[in-house]
Amino acid sequence: MTLQELQEEHKASLAAVAAASAPEALDAARIKYLGRNGLLPALVKQMKDVPAADRPAFGKELGAWRAELEAQLAAKTAELRQGAAQGAAFDATLPGRWRAEGVIHPVSRVIEETAAIFHRLGFSVADGPDIETKFNNFTALNTAPHHPSMDPSDTFWFDPETLLRTQTSPVQIRTMAANPPPVRIINPGRCYRRDTTDATHSANFHQIEGLYVDTRPVSLADLKSTLAYFAREMMGPDIGVRFRPHFFPFTEPSVEVDFTCHVCKGKGCRVCKQSGWIEIAGAGMVDPHVYRHVGYDPEKVYGYAFGMGVERIAMIKYGIPDIRFLYENDIRFLSQLR
Ligand code: DAH
Repeated sequence: MTLQELQEEHKASLAAVAAASAPEALDAARIKYLGRNGLLPALVKQMKDVPAADRPAFGKELGAWRAELEAQLAAKTAELRQGAAQGAAFDATLPGRWRAEGVIHPVSRVIEETAAIFHRLGFSVADGPDIETKFNNFTALNTAPHHPSMDPSDTFWFDPETLLRTQTSPVQIRTMAANPPPVRIINPGRCYRRDTTDATHSANFHQIEGLYVDTRPVSLADLKSTLAYFAREMMGPDIGVRFRPHFFPFTEPSVEVDFTCHVCKGKGCRVCKQSGWIEIAGAGMVDPHVYRHVGYDPEKVYGYAFGMGVERIAMIKYGIPDIRFLYENDIRFLSQLR
């Protein structure tokens, strides 16, 4: 073997060690080069046949090769051992790590179910901003200029023309101002009022607005049957619904809508304040003044509107005695409402 061939074998042996990805491959390389019948011992034996002049160079090369190969073999052995140790840390028989599983929040659930029920009746979902103009939230809804609901003690104002909406009703205005009749929408969203928080009040709550306006006759009977259908779909066939005369500036006539209390099934309890009924919505036939504000001709359209309290519906649907449970986001509470 020439010195050059020796150097090539040296290189090949190092490449074999570097390429070894398992202990078996490493052992094979060790045996091939350093084993009792391996290449290096055989070459050492052949040294006596090398011309005396070349022997020092051959000897030096063989020594360097052995030292380097042994070092590489040791390093690679340690590397493979470490990898094996890491692999052993995975124990497929251990139980998995528990991960908290989220649930859809009852407020979101009521909104989603309401949208699905009204979708079956041909309503689509409209949207509007939380920050509203005084015109959309009050004026166009026919609210008297000095109505107490506009008072800074009731409403969060940014400036004299801008506020956090106190109701989802301004979406009626936005929808009609942007679309000719017929319109048939619901709008779920947040509302804001300066209310002191207690078991049934929150300064930030949700409503679902509904509006149906058509050029064909729409009557109070349509409104009643629609809301009664909604009540049964949402609460089950046993739910009772009643309509009481009321006043809202944007509807005439106006009603308030009550559902029988689902917590006590109408017998009377803390949630319904012993009455057996819970007020769920305001509603009525859209007032002609509202049509004028959005450019509709009151002589040519008919329509009804309603606004429902989402938290109220969630409370009676799930038997929740205090509105504050809905905002604490305690997983121990929420996970019971699957
Ligand atoms: N916006 C009213 C409220 O917050 C609820 C309401 C009443 C909405 C009558 C309506 C309606 O659309 O026609 O108390």
